[in-house]
Amino acid sequence: MHVLTVLDHPNPNAFSAAVAQQFMAGATAAGHTVELADLHAEGFDPRWSQGDVDANSETPMPDVAAEQARIARADAICLVFPLFWWGMPSMTKGWVDRVWTWGWAYDQLADPNLSLQRPRSGVLLVPAGARSDEIRDQGYLAALETAWIDGTFGYFGLSPRRLELLCGSTGSDARRQSLLHRSYQIGLTLPHPQPTH
Ligand SMILES: Cc1cc2nc3c(=O)[nH]c(=O)nc-3n(C[C@H](O)[C@H](O)[C@H](O)COP(=O)(O)O)c2cc1C
Repeated sequence: MHVLTVLDHPNPNAFSAAVAQQFMAGATAAGHTVELADLHAEGFDPRWSQGDVDANSETPMPDVAAEQARIARADAICLVFPLFWWGMPSMTKGWVDRVWTWGWAYDQLADPNLSLQRPRSGVLLVPAGARSDEIRDQGYLAALETAWIDGTFGYFGLSPRRLELLCGSTGSDARRQSLLHRSYQIGLTLPHPQPTH
């Protein structure tokens, strides 16, 4: 498969960047080709603008068209971004809002399994400072699963799709090493796309 990794972090030495590298190393070891979209390094503009309002699926803005071309050649997509206020940081949010447009990605809000895109394997690797029991017991995990796995990435044709919260990412070196190892394993065992119907 051709695997696109989308990284949202301004610091190339951040834990999130190491997660992306480990995931790609695992995917490479599994025989996949890999491509990195380093949104900060590339200067992607996440601001939804009047240009986006005026554009349509036939004539997207040039930077959106470039991202869509990257997605078009991918069989699997991995998003790596830190959990910020129980949501996506603004860069990832803007990339999702601007790139996965109505008429290109989806056309039917009533059916999250109906996408205009071919099925792609999808994974969200999300470093989070909180502990996994806090995140689960306070209902955040269920809320994020609902918002992202049920409510967003189905429309984009990601199938199968999976949210992997890398909890305790600000913890001990041993904890961080185990999360990096998990990221490698997820790249190594990436499932193939499956039809949604
Ligand atoms: C603005 C901001 C908001 C954050 N919000 C949350 C949060 O809601 N839940 C959580 O578990 N961690 C939260 N964190 C912690 C980050 O997810 C964590 O530090 C992560 O490891 C950052 O990624 P990095 O290590 O690659 O920099 C937040 C951190 C920042 C800077």
